[in-house]
Amino acid sequence: MQAEGDGGRFLDREAVDVAPRREWTLIQHIKDWHTSGAVLPSSRRLVARLLAGVDFASARNIAELGPGTGCVTREILRRMRPDARLVSLELNPVFVESCRSIPDPRLIVRCSCASRLPEVLEQEGIESVDAVVSSLPLGMMDDDMVVRVLQASRESLRPGGTFVQYQYSLSRHWAMKALYPSITVRFTPFNVPPAFVYTCDTRPPASRPGRWGLVPAALGTGAVTLLAVISRTVHNLL
Ligand SMILES: C[S@@+](CC[C@H](N)C(=O)[O-])C[C@H]1O[C@@H](n2cnc3c(N)ncnc32)[C@H](O)[C@@H]1O
Repeated sequence: MQAEGDGGRFLDREAVDVAPRREWTLIQHIKDWHTSGAVLPSSRRLVARLLAGVDFASARNIAELGPGTGCVTREILRRMRPDARLVSLELNPVFVESCRSIPDPRLIVRCSCASRLPEVLEQEGIESVDAVVSSLPLGMMDDDMVVRVLQASRESLRPGGTFVQYQYSLSRHWAMKALYPSITVRFTPFNVPPAFVYTCDTRPPASRPGRWGLVPAALGTGAVTLLAVISRTVHNLL
């Protein structure tokens, strides 16, 4: 099976014949560490925190980027409306097979690079999505690729839609900040490794805080920016 991509480390992978194989998840994660960016699937706590930012009651179309073996996918399907659709884009053919074995007619799994999301949605007859749920290893990608996958997500969201992403550092905060007027960052220690969760809103914050409300807001933004700079510096040094 060949991933639908267009060049670059995260796109141009060798075709892998996966039909007769059922590899152990951990082995697959370790083997493909450079693209999976993790050795263990996300914890239930992290998945819950990630999905807390999605309005499942109203969402009709959701896109997922980097489903891996499907731990986030299954939880999205569990929360999703019966008439909603989930389109999941995964680069690794072994993980694609694994997700395709999830027996749910609302799920469409495509072996494709996340940067091709608008094109894939068009092929599936979906104009835009209410939410994009991303587990992409942004910290392992080069800047150019990060900008491309994030722009593809932004382009695919309907006005008022939400983008959620987790990361083990804050090294890509700048890239999300360039695309979304409102971002909330939360942290969970209950994952290996501990992770930050970004909830990015296409709408500006509903109400401006009062004069005193600006103080904690400014402190919060300052703290996240400082952490992001430290995190990026550490990431570049390693
Ligand atoms: C950190 S794992 C997340 C797996 C699972 N969703 C979880 O939370 O445990 C990242 C996944 O993104 C996939 N991936 C990496 N680059 C990608 C890309 N450009 N497009 C689509 N999927 C990609 C990897 O193959 C891997 O399955």
